[in-house]
Amino acid sequence: MNKIAQIFQTLDYGPAPEGPEQAIAWLDSHDRKFGHFIHGEWTKPGKTFSSDNPANGQSLAQISDGTPSDVDAAVKAARAAFPLWSALSGYERGKYLYAIARAVQKHARLFAVLETLDNGKPIRESRDIDIPLVARHFYHHAGWAQHLSREFPDAVPYGVCGQIIPWNFPLLMLAWKIAPALAAGNTVVLKPAEFTSLTALLFAEICDRIGLPKGVVNIVTGEGDTGQAIVNHQDIDKIAFTGSTEVGKLIRAATAGTGKGLSLELGGKSPYIVFEDADIDSAIEGLVDAIWFNQGQVCCAGSRLLVQESIEERFIKKLKLRMNTLRLGDPMDKSIDIGAMVAPVQVARINDLMQRGVAEGALIYEPDGMALPGTGCFLRPALVTNVSPANTLVAEEIFGPVLVAMSFRTPEEAVALANNTKYGLAATIWSENINLALDIAPKIKAGVVWINGTNNFDAAVGFGGYKESGFGREGGREGMGAYLKPAWEKALKAAPVGKPVPARAANPLDASHVDQTAKMYIGGKQTRPDSAYTRPVLDPSGKLIGEVGEGNRKDIRNAVEAARASLGWSTTAAHTRAQILYFLAENLDYRRDEFAARIKAQTGEDGAEEVALSVERLFAFAGWADKYDGAVHNPPLRAVAAAMIEPLGVMGIVAPTSLPLLGSIALIAPALAMGNTVVLVPSSQSPLSLTDLYQVIETSDVPSGVINIVTGDSVTLAKTLTEHDGVDGLWFAGSAEASTMVEKASISNLKQTWTTRGLSYDLTDRRFEGDYFLGKSTQVKNVWIPYGA
Ligand code: NAI
Repeated sequence: MNKIAQIFQTLDYGPAPEGPEQAIAWLDSHDRKFGHFIHGEWTKPGKTFSSDNPANGQSLAQISDGTPSDVDAAVKAARAAFPLWSALSGYERGKYLYAIARAVQKHARLFAVLETLDNGKPIRESRDIDIPLVARHFYHHAGWAQHLSREFPDAVPYGVCGQIIPWNFPLLMLAWKIAPALAAGNTVVLKPAEFTSLTALLFAEICDRIGLPKGVVNIVTGEGDTGQAIVNHQDIDKIAFTGSTEVGKLIRAATAGTGKGLSLELGGKSPYIVFEDADIDSAIEGLVDAIWFNQGQVCCAGSRLLVQESIEERFIKKLKLRMNTLRLGDPMDKSIDIGAMVAPVQVARINDLMQRGVAEGALIYEPDGMALPGTGCFLRPALVTNVSPANTLVAEEIFGPVLVAMSFRTPEEAVALANNTKYGLAATIWSENINLALDIAPKIKAGVVWINGTNNFDAAVGFGGYKESGFGREGGREGMGAYLKPAWEKALKAAPVGKPVPARAANPLDASHVDQTAKMYIGGKQTRPDSAYTRPVLDPSGKLIGEVGEGNRKDIRNAVEAARASLGWSTTAAHTRAQILYFLAENLDYRRDEFAARIKAQTGEDGAEEVALSVERLFAFAGWADKYDGAVHNPPLRAVAAAMIEPLGVMGIVAPTSLPLLGSIALIAPALAMGNTVVLVPSSQSPLSLTDLYQVIETSDVPSGVINIVTGDSVTLAKTLTEHDGVDGLWFAGSAEASTMVEKASISNLKQTWTTRGLSYDLTDRRFEGDYFLGKSTQVKNVWIPYGA
């Protein structure tokens, strides 16, 4: 009697453990020792390592540590399977994906239990979130397979995709990678994370059971070295990676210049913003899901609480009370909230970060009296206060159950704090004032924004980051597109080498023969080069026809500053941007003869056609400005997701040497139409067509700082632009060697790059009036908004 009264008082649950028997039986059926799954067969286990249950430290199975020759065998199997798989009709491929979805559903409990044993996440989560989302992903992409040729006409698969995934959502990350890749007609070599390979191996067996053609899916297990062997394999066409920003940067550098496709889904330090008018109880429950879901081992975890000062005290008090009621324990117990961390090394890493944070002044709150199990990798939920933005715990991704709290006074301050991070994966906004929430959402630099909700995911809605959280999207139309390439692009050959310009010693005194040296164009003003040096412009016979400034690092810095200061362009109405581009086209057209003559003087070619094409190109992108827009997705949750197209920000554009006018116009027009501001390096050989354009720009109402032009040596300036952290995207037209340099240099802030790699991109082709460059100058932000009941 007394006991029942006590139970009512605490409303405590008894233990409700899930049984491991079936999962253990499956492991036993493999003698708890696994080889790789290559060409539909299990290889003989090689050198192995143990995959342990982090909740009790016991070994579950021995996993093979993949060698370069294992990777090579897997790539060969994938290559051999590619012609057949990609030639199947979309309907046929869709049926295989559907069969996988059904098989995952049929064995859902086995998958969930195995995932929890291997990873330590609460069974409630693997059962109700991870595995249902896996099935949803394969269903969704079965549909894409069938409709691909209609929805992505002229697109072809990459070929063989190398996919490397982390340990926090082992099977779900596999689904995010494999489902779109297969739907598009690619074949794959996937490496699960070393801590959590088991569900990927069970998945391999499912592929076999449903009769997936051999070699379409290959699973190679192993550690970082095995991942590296995949990244470096010459016969892989695209790499897709999810994991730490550190490894993401290594992969960016390793794939530079190889022409491999690349998508990176990296770390985060996502803000969770609570305004004073929020429904506080809901916001607290949301916070539990934001930071204690999967023990905080979530790339988009709401790990930085930003709470409005007026409610801070009350909110933190309530939060602590709620933290006290969280239940930590055996992940297999259906009634626990917090399970085990994935591995001892992660626990040590987090403890180390915490110590550093405390040494820097942080205060830590952990629920009173929350006991930790005697064995296993457990960490109590923690709330960190008394921190400045520079504290390690605020700046670094902790990837654990650790929430850092800060306060703000005004919405502007909330935005500034939210964006004060190198990451840009996700953000959450709580407010009962939908006007306020919708005002803040576009101001946050993140790929996903949740309003009055958090950690919502769906196959129909893209996911991925801004800034150092990576690039490329998974899920949604944009995620599907990430596994496809235009057929023509795949067929490009090396560009013929242009006519050499006659060698001519640049005599510094030549300037006296030319009346005027063209200046740079920065922040709407014509400015002299910082170096005070000029470079000659020659005609095809080697005769001096003009001079331009020799741009240097300082000119680029000034131009980037001007471009950043003009980012208001991105929120200028698309209709206005369209009008300005039309006006630019019209004013260029008025002076077509003069521009044609200038082209002829520089190249010897009749320039009339190039000017006409440039005018037409400006018209084309004026037309696109208000049409290339987003979508509203209807995921199976009480929300809609508005997929908003946003510009990258400041773009560095280095134009090709050929096509003095069109070479620049074809690249800046789409970037400007989408709301980017631009620092342009025009053709280093024939820059006068662009220096002539200053007056046209000025008479066309282009706001100052939206187009900045720095003349000089393309490759030198490309390097400076790429290394500049104020530049968000970089396009480079030039040699393979210089393109490699650009891709390598882009790792500093993981800016998105497009390079021609010495291939024959013919910018006169009208295909470039289409959406090819629009996609490359934008990124999708998915804003989740509660909708309906
Ligand atoms: P990690 O980035 O090293 O591992 C992710 C995957 O990459 C694993 O499959 C690993 O074997 C593979 N890998 C490692 N080095 C590689 C290389 N040089 N080339 C190719 N593949 C390689 O992540 P790790 O070390 O397991 O976790 C460390 C920290 O990274 C975490 O504490 C967390 O902060 C962050 N992380 C972020 C994730 C996210 O989704 N944003 C996921 C996993 C980790």
